[in-house]
Amino acid sequence: MSEPLLEIDGLDIRYETKDGEIHAVTDASFAIDTNEFFGLVGESGSGKSTIAKSIIGGLDDNGSVTAGEIRFRGEPIHSMTERELSERIRWKEIAYIPQASMNSLDPIMRLDKQAVELAKVHTDWSKQRAIDRLTELFEVVGLPGERIYEYPHQFSGGMQQRAIIAFSLFLEPSLLIADEPTTALDVIMQDQILTHLKSIQEEEDVSIVMITHDISVIFENCDSMAVLHGGQVSELGDVTRMFDSPSHPYSYLLQQAFPDIRHPKRDLSVIEGQPPQLQDEVDYCTFANRCPWSTDECVESRPPLQAVGDDNQYTSCIRYDEIEELGHRSPENTRSEVGGSNHE
Ligand SMILES: Nc1ncnc2c1ncn2[C@@H]1O[C@H](COP(=O)(O)OP(=O)(O)OP(=O)(O)O)[C@@H](O)[C@H]1O
Ligand SMILES: [Mg+2]
Repeated sequence: MSEPLLEIDGLDIRYETKDGEIHAVTDASFAIDTNEFFGLVGESGSGKSTIAKSIIGGLDDNGSVTAGEIRFRGEPIHSMTERELSERIRWKEIAYIPQASMNSLDPIMRLDKQAVELAKVHTDWSKQRAIDRLTELFEVVGLPGERIYEYPHQFSGGMQQRAIIAFSLFLEPSLLIADEPTTALDVIMQDQILTHLKSIQEEEDVSIVMITHDISVIFENCDSMAVLHGGQVSELGDVTRMFDSPSHPYSYLLQQAFPDIRHPKRDLSVIEGQPPQLQDEVDYCTFANRCPWSTDECVESRPPLQAVGDDNQYTSCIRYDEIEELGHRSPENTRSEVGGSNHE
């Protein structure tokens, strides 16, 4: 098999705060292949943006990678200097659209001028080449090419978001990380942007990591996915496999919590409880206190990410081989049946 484009391997990330350390990400591992549309999903606070920021060396000042590796085309990048990252990796190889990036374009400069400036700093392109590149990208994201001669404030929110996506692709990166690219938009605009992301992936020969809290968006658009809970990867693998037979209680319940076009009338269940505070060493399953099927063993040690059968699917649930059976019973029955505790 060829080498993955990006590998996250046993990653731990902590934040220093006045109340002690936050173990925001624990032992996270996943890989993204060339030309792959990858989804990273989890509830608010699960560590999605933290992982994304760590990939481009953009963690907040109080955050740091304390274990593990981030490799891009096999080369460790988490230990690169700021200069190496900005000269070799950022924008040219890995483009990152931060969460809530709606206002990240310069409001007082015409978009064509912003493109020319960007090209001047990072490339030896002519002015015309920069303009042609932006025009081409506008068309890829569904904006009329002639609108590059306007100011960002002349665009609606959805159009600005598309322009930001166009700019992020400007220097022909191999990987685009888009953190909640559609959350602030209405449903129609969300849908249009997602459709464009898919065609971008094909036309621009780029891998995309899309971050979202909505698992149904990932089921509809991505090839592979990782589900995060409390800074741990709960489940990882091929989207079809995970849709058809989730192998972690969190991804199973998350799937139940979003509407499914195949079952539009289904009651949407809510996952009760909150993830743990992550102030101490995370040497337990972070979903155990919310899991209807947890046992004492789930909090005795950190669950390893293990392969489910021979397919492209990995789970960190130690009871994964019972999931299908457990999922078909009511949680109350199952809990008493297996004699598990709630850890509350
Ligand atoms: N600068 C920081 N200092 C301290 N804690 C932080 C900092 N940034 C994030 N955290 C904490 O790290 C954990 C992960 O946060 P992160 O922003 O990565 O979550 P997220 O999955 O992106 O959530 P959301 O869906 O709300 O964007 C949370 O517990 C959060 O409170
Ligand atoms: Mg976030």
